[in-house]
Amino acid sequence: MSTTILVGLQWGDEGKGKIIDVLTKDVGMVVRFQGGNNAGHTVEIGNDKYVLHLIPSGIFRKKTKNIIGNGVVVNPVILKEEMEALSQSGVSFKNRFEISTRSHLIFQYHCLIDGLKEQQRNPEKKIGTTKRGIGPTYGDKAARRGIRALEMLDIKRFESRFREEAEYYNTILEGFDFEKVDVETEWRKLKEAAEFLAPYIKDTVLTVNKAASSGKKILFEGAQGMLLDVDYGTYPYVTSSNTTTGAACTGSGLSPKYITEIYGVMKAYCTRVGEGPFPTELFNEEGETIRKIGSEFGATTGRPRRCGWFDAVSAKYSCMVNGTDKLAITKLDVLDKLKTLKVCTAYEIDGIQYKAMPSDTELMEKAKPIYEEMAGWQSDTSKAKSFDELPLQAQNYLKWIAELVNADIGIISVGPKRSQTFTVFP
Ligand code: GDP
Ligand code: IMO
Ligand code: MG
Repeated sequence: MSTTILVGLQWGDEGKGKIIDVLTKDVGMVVRFQGGNNAGHTVEIGNDKYVLHLIPSGIFRKKTKNIIGNGVVVNPVILKEEMEALSQSGVSFKNRFEISTRSHLIFQYHCLIDGLKEQQRNPEKKIGTTKRGIGPTYGDKAARRGIRALEMLDIKRFESRFREEAEYYNTILEGFDFEKVDVETEWRKLKEAAEFLAPYIKDTVLTVNKAASSGKKILFEGAQGMLLDVDYGTYPYVTSSNTTTGAACTGSGLSPKYITEIYGVMKAYCTRVGEGPFPTELFNEEGETIRKIGSEFGATTGRPRRCGWFDAVSAKYSCMVNGTDKLAITKLDVLDKLKTLKVCTAYEIDGIQYKAMPSDTELMEKAKPIYEEMAGWQSDTSKAKSFDELPLQAQNYLKWIAELVNADIGIISVGPKRSQTFTVFP
């Protein structure tokens, strides 16, 4: 029996989708446990490229069951569209896909409120959300006025709850002279989505527990990354869920006693999309080169990702909070051409050296990276099939960053394809 949690260790987009897809070869179940369609997880199979927003990345393995757990926030209209698009590519959902009865639903008014709140913030305080309604939906959940997936199973009840909430939010939106919800149009879409999704809405707590107790291999798929966690990230420049390993249990209903292994995914450098502190951000040619070679553009919003050197201070903190057993280090190939590589091993803030990430985001904003550097390998890593086939300098770089974050290397990724991945046993 093995139950693995896989999470992002940085600001998201570490390549979680790709690694999940590779790991699911012999896994019985993949579970999403937090976030929503703010996520964009890319999976490349042969010449086909898919970007998944809500559907777990195990969907391309025919024998794998895929679960949207109770901790996920689900936009029913978007989920229907995502399922339809995948069905057209030949993916079957029958008997291998479930949505938790308890997951909270995202409606158009949440997306509008997300936009309104961003508009109201001072320009220098904007979060740069994906405007997918994530924050307002988790807000409604905590405020105990959210609508859950189970309510879609009774169309009359669903309609009256939706209309009631939409009218409430329209009053607020109108007060700010902001775009309002066209209730009739939205309801038509929602009714169709509810009818479409109904066969998949299940008590997934039972499904996941049954799988675990019968010894099935389960893989939990984190979305976003530790530095966007609502508790441990660079608050308030974060998403609205816990993105760290602890959330896998609360977001699925599986007890921590089943967890056997924790994978943390990190790029060999750093990126961030959206606003907030990023101590190692590069504003020069090198940053541009990384963005270009790494195709660093958001998989959900298309925004250019901010790029920078590997930050061992925040990554070490992240490995500690997540309890990372094994690292999956991605995008090593992106550094192939660089002459010199820098790694941030401490921050200097107001003249004081920090070895651990401070909890005060205002301090993070002032953090000046203290770098150590090494010469790059300046050769192609994208065809390597094992650690030994990597240039010696690349091996040294990987060992160095793994040591700095205090975790072992488990997987190395040297390109977006399944075949550009290999395991490393310490
Ligand atoms: P996720 O949100 O963590 O699943 O990551 P995204 O899919 O948003 O972004 C990762 C991007 O990098 C995708 O375009 C992947 O296809 C790509 N990718 C993943 N691993 C590698 C790698 O090792 N090398 C390169 N060059 N690209 C990679
Ligand atoms: P995956 O799963 C990168 C960022 C947004 C913004 C902040 C809050 O693909 O790694 P939100 O819409 O969640 O309220 O936005 O979080 N963000 C992500 N950045 N990858 C993601 O997901 C992200 N999901 C949200 O850009 O800065
Ligand atoms: Mg992504």
